[in-house]
Amino acid sequence: MSTRLPGKGPTPWKKQPYGGYYQNRTPEHDPFLAEVGPGTPMGEYMRRFWHPVCMSEELTDVPRYIRILGEELVAFRDRSGRVGVLALHCTHRGASLEYGLVQQRGIMCCYHGIVWDVDGSCLEIPFPEGQEHEGERIRGRAWQPAYKAFERHGLVFAYMGPPEEEPPFPEWDGDWGLGPGDEMVPYSNFYPCNWLQVQDNAADQYHHIPLHSTAVVPGHEQGTTFGEAGAAPYEVRPDLQFFRVHGGKAMAWTSSRRVDDEKIFIRVNYQFLPNGSFHSYLFEDGSKRNHFSRTHMFRWVVPVDDENCIMFGWRMFGSHCDPRGVGKKHLVGFEKMDFLEGQCGMRRPERLQYGQGELPPIPKHHRERTAYRDAQHAPGDYEAVTSSRKVAVHALEHLLPFDGGVTMFRQLLRLVIDGKSPGATPEAWRDWLANGPPNSYCSGNVLVIPRAPTMAEEIERRREVAKRVLEATTESDTLQGEARKQFMRDRLAAIEATYAPELAEA
Ligand code: FES
Ligand SMILES: [Fe+2]
Repeated sequence: MSTRLPGKGPTPWKKQPYGGYYQNRTPEHDPFLAEVGPGTPMGEYMRRFWHPVCMSEELTDVPRYIRILGEELVAFRDRSGRVGVLALHCTHRGASLEYGLVQQRGIMCCYHGIVWDVDGSCLEIPFPEGQEHEGERIRGRAWQPAYKAFERHGLVFAYMGPPEEEPPFPEWDGDWGLGPGDEMVPYSNFYPCNWLQVQDNAADQYHHIPLHSTAVVPGHEQGTTFGEAGAAPYEVRPDLQFFRVHGGKAMAWTSSRRVDDEKIFIRVNYQFLPNGSFHSYLFEDGSKRNHFSRTHMFRWVVPVDDENCIMFGWRMFGSHCDPRGVGKKHLVGFEKMDFLEGQCGMRRPERLQYGQGELPPIPKHHRERTAYRDAQHAPGDYEAVTSSRKVAVHALEHLLPFDGGVTMFRQLLRLVIDGKSPGATPEAWRDWLANGPPNSYCSGNVLVIPRAPTMAEEIERRREVAKRVLEATTESDTLQGEARKQFMRDRLAAIEATYAPELAEA
């Protein structure tokens, strides 16, 4: 098992013209970070957290087969409204509970009619007339493996660890940073690859220009770019800085981009162990001062198994969090995402020139070929990430300075699993969450900071401003809600005033 620790430099490139022959072997992936089955180091760490496991809309009048962390499960909502997540195979003789009947209370196995409650207890074992007492006697001893679950804003969360180690569910920022009238809209996007490469994509802010601001084949940009959404600042290569925060539980990273001679766009995203990330305003156009706008997209990358995962989360809608009104709520949901094409495997029908709405009645293989061609012409995150092998092979990568977020987050994971990060253990998380809702550092900020006279000073300035924004955010950590927002607004105005004194006088 690999225990490569931080400090080892990047892999050197092999320099040899036409040297493919000497690099034609593919080493194994790193099991330490990638594998999540029961008993694996990462799998055990992950099992100490609440994770989304499906969407509420997937719970209908029939049970839902799900696979999470390599475990086959069934999720259902009984007719009294309680959510159950049980092991798939009935502990009697193994029939799948996906064929069970949802009851007023619990679920009835289709095979012999045993009824299981959401906590795994047995509600009924049907016995012949006159022998019910026998069924009753066994009923008290029978159990189905179960996990605690609940629904929140259209997502079903489950805890798959030891019951005695269950952590509080983190109500981030107390109110999730919601402003007046904001709405959390759930989504679920399946990725046929290992969970970590999807998580790595969150920390990789540098891919926006090649992947999202152009199409590979000119003329195929329709609806695919940040630029077309009017978010031009994303089409500037960002200056990235990465910070370990909250005792190694999380990483905050700043991306600084100059908008014009007057303004700088500082995006602060927040990525926490083991698999979450919060992203600030996706459609910032930089046209107005914007101080401490909060999370615009919440996401958790939940392993289905070692070779598949699902990105679950919420997109925020409302005039407060999307002042430009660019988000498209009808495109967010199960296998849908609104802000760029290529966020999930389902290409939008209208992009395939079939017209709005339903896919046309054409053979499936033709539809898939058409989608593949479309993906080649204008690829998105889905294509980039899922094509990095089923399980990315880190030993073959050559990381660059702008991959710093990927490097740091993998290090945070590796350290805690190696027992070298006391601030990020499950116990440390439980202690932290027991004090109340944690604050995230996610924010979007457009600051009035004039361009520096020389390029060297400008580089220094954009880094310094980003650091000062993060320092202010760290200081605000003792506050919550409106008090924290006001503190940040004051601090950001003070940062501006040091570069543009006329603002302080105004
Ligand atoms: S297998 Fe489920 S009740 Fe018999
Ligand atoms: Fe992306």
